[in-house]
Amino acid sequence: MTRIPKSEFARRRKALMDQMEPNSIAILPAAPVYIRNRDVEHIYRQDSDFQYLSGFPEPEAVIALIPGREHGEYVLFCRERDPERELWDGLRAGQDGAISQYGADDAFPIGDIDDILPGLIEGRERVYYAMGTNQEFDRHLMEWINVIRSKARQGAQPPNEFVALDHLLHDMRLYKSSNEVKVMREAAAISSRAHVRAMQASRAGLFEFHLEAELDYEFRKGGAKMPAYGSIVAAGKNACILHYHENDAALKDGDLVLIDAGCEIDCYASDITRTFPVSGTFSPEQKAIYELVLASQEAAFLEIGPDKHWNQAHEATVQVITAGLVELGILQGDVDELIATEAYKPFYMHRAGHWLGLDVHDVGDYKVGGEWRVLEVGMAMTVEPGIYIGLDNQNVAKKWRGIGVRIEDDVVVTRDGCEILTKDCPKTVAEIEALMAAARAEVA
Ligand code: GLY
Ligand code: MN
Ligand code: MN
Repeated sequence: MTRIPKSEFARRRKALMDQMEPNSIAILPAAPVYIRNRDVEHIYRQDSDFQYLSGFPEPEAVIALIPGREHGEYVLFCRERDPERELWDGLRAGQDGAISQYGADDAFPIGDIDDILPGLIEGRERVYYAMGTNQEFDRHLMEWINVIRSKARQGAQPPNEFVALDHLLHDMRLYKSSNEVKVMREAAAISSRAHVRAMQASRAGLFEFHLEAELDYEFRKGGAKMPAYGSIVAAGKNACILHYHENDAALKDGDLVLIDAGCEIDCYASDITRTFPVSGTFSPEQKAIYELVLASQEAAFLEIGPDKHWNQAHEATVQVITAGLVELGILQGDVDELIATEAYKPFYMHRAGHWLGLDVHDVGDYKVGGEWRVLEVGMAMTVEPGIYIGLDNQNVAKKWRGIGVRIEDDVVVTRDGCEILTKDCPKTVAEIEALMAAARAEVA
């Protein structure tokens, strides 16, 4: 069971149903099981929308929400209990469990869906459904609709409208409840410990995957089933590859290592990046770039709060980074002009953050009516400025080349600004150098 209480799932379903037009049905399939190779499956991860509404962790399940249905508004189709299959693959909730543990009003075997679901759709005016995200299920749904159409002469009424369910649901998911923030705080705390462990273990001669192993150890020890995304452990020039994932290069004395990694707890993601020296001490150039990125992040935090719009944090990072690059002599010219011409982009080519939640790049619109969205209490996001100076960048002095720094924290908007969920993860040059020196002293 998840840390989110049953009552909250019920509240979410009700909030969704309250927004649905009268005489409608919402239908959501569970995530499929993906095959890794031959008969080996990928670790199962529930679809985030399905998880949000049910907390039901099994594949081969379908939610139907039918506001006003006399025999129950929340119908769950799921696998039947099967002692033999359960002996091999693990326990199933079954229909009784769907009702008693997961709060379904009514539950049916998934094998009976072809017989039952068309009857639940029939006569409803609208179907709320996320078309195009699961092609196989799209096809099934059309078959069920066609079953109803084929009975039109007997008086069956197929639905008249399909409505994008994801839009309603994704707006709801953007606002995190206090229970959700609590889970995200826990994921953030475990990930913070994982980054500390990697810093403590770092030394020249190891490989990037050694540090990945330290992260994984701390994630699993904290109770996380898996990382929220593929961990990036990028030493030296690899830090300039934004989605580096080989994680197999040697750690060299004098290089930095950038780690972008976070675990998920009950499907809620954390997403942290720290950049630190392989051997524990920043060079003057590394320190200058690092402190510039850090200053830009601090400036961004000040632009996150109610009534500030989504892009303000990004704009703050661009301002600080561009001015800083001029100060260091990496860019030349007038800061405002350099910003207007996007001269910073060869060094800072991504945005300052993204929504964070059940998906690491979480759902929700960034613009509303063509304008950047105004932040509200409960919205969670990352703040992750970076500077990357390619090894082959002939336009900058040699001493800067090959330095890649990103610093990423997770925040949630509060009444008076934002809470930094990942604040326990050391970040200043002094903190990182002290932590790494202490770890070395212990080993020596
Ligand atoms: N780890 C993916 C990101 O930072 O957006
Ligand atoms: Mn991120
Ligand atoms: Mn990240």
